[in-house]
Amino acid sequence: MNKKKRRLAVVLATVTGSAVLVLSGCSGKSEQTEKTLRVGVITYSQDDPFINGLTDELKVQLKAMENKQRRIIVSTKSGNDDQQEQNEKVEEMIDAGCDVLCINLVDRTAPSRIVRMARNEDIPVIFFNREPVREDLMQWEKLYYVGCDAEQSGIMQGEIAAEYINSHPEVDKNQDGKIQYVLLEGEAGHQDAISRTEYSVKTLMKNDVVLEKLSYQLADWNRGQAENRMNRLISQYGKEIELVISNNDEMALGAVEAYRTVGYAREDWPVIFGIDGLEDALKAVKAGEMQGSILNDRVDQAKEMAKMAVKLFEGEDFDQENLKEGRYYFSEYQKVDSSNIDEYLSAEEAIAHSEM
Ligand code: BGC
Ligand code: CA
Repeated sequence: MNKKKRRLAVVLATVTGSAVLVLSGCSGKSEQTEKTLRVGVITYSQDDPFINGLTDELKVQLKAMENKQRRIIVSTKSGNDDQQEQNEKVEEMIDAGCDVLCINLVDRTAPSRIVRMARNEDIPVIFFNREPVREDLMQWEKLYYVGCDAEQSGIMQGEIAAEYINSHPEVDKNQDGKIQYVLLEGEAGHQDAISRTEYSVKTLMKNDVVLEKLSYQLADWNRGQAENRMNRLISQYGKEIELVISNNDEMALGAVEAYRTVGYAREDWPVIFGIDGLEDALKAVKAGEMQGSILNDRVDQAKEMAKMAVKLFEGEDFDQENLKEGRYYFSEYQKVDSSNIDEYLSAEEAIAHSEM
């Protein structure tokens, strides 16, 4: 028995009666084939609403893949924004006998220790949402990535914003032919923040919107930080701000919160666009407090991760044609604005309900 199997046997023997029967080999027919897949999920933080939604959905999707022969146990932990702490949590999960790891890196440039530990025990790793650099992912054949193509979200956000602005001349409140804008940026160095900022602005310009930049503010994907930044910008620029582009919905909602608090009449608000399609943001679009968002499809990403985890565990080859370079799965973003908000809002309510 190798180290991993030995550990797994100890864990199984102490956890469940039926699993003990499997090991002792004296069970009835059905138990004899029962296997337990242990999935360890470790996120970068426990306070990120998009990530929490994604991990809740991952649990739903893994549950749906259980059957008589296969039990699936999911454990989740967070790295609490500290790569060192995340490495230690990964080690604990490996020691507890997990079969597949799903890792949302704290520092996407620092996966080496995790890769080394997983590789020593032959445990496949599915990285998600925070993309390791290509040469790290290509280090070993059992490393995968599930996420999105951030450039696509920036382009789509630029397109829905341009479409809105071009058909609503009142967005240019001072009628100077330019749109005075602020941009709320996610975490420095995050692949999504970098591409969304670049492509949303480029796409607006490409679609004939003349922009005047007032300010770019880092708010770390976070609603509270964005609200603080916006409060400062509102006291500096007052009603001059005509457009808020945000790298995600949480920060867009921070801007909404700032405008609610300052109490401007709605015609004095800027138009506000986010990304993720979180329930609160969809409600804000419905209420006319935000003009659009881009759905970051957590159901699709969670489904793919669940499917990969099971196939890797079963040792089946999976249709790698589906994966870019055999390793990357990119989910498609979708545009959401007032034209299709009802459809997305009711879908989101059903999804959120199933995750409870
Ligand atoms: C999401 C953000 C989230 C970040 C975390 C991004 O893809 O849009 O809402 O905070 O991932 O890594
Ligand atoms: Ca203007």
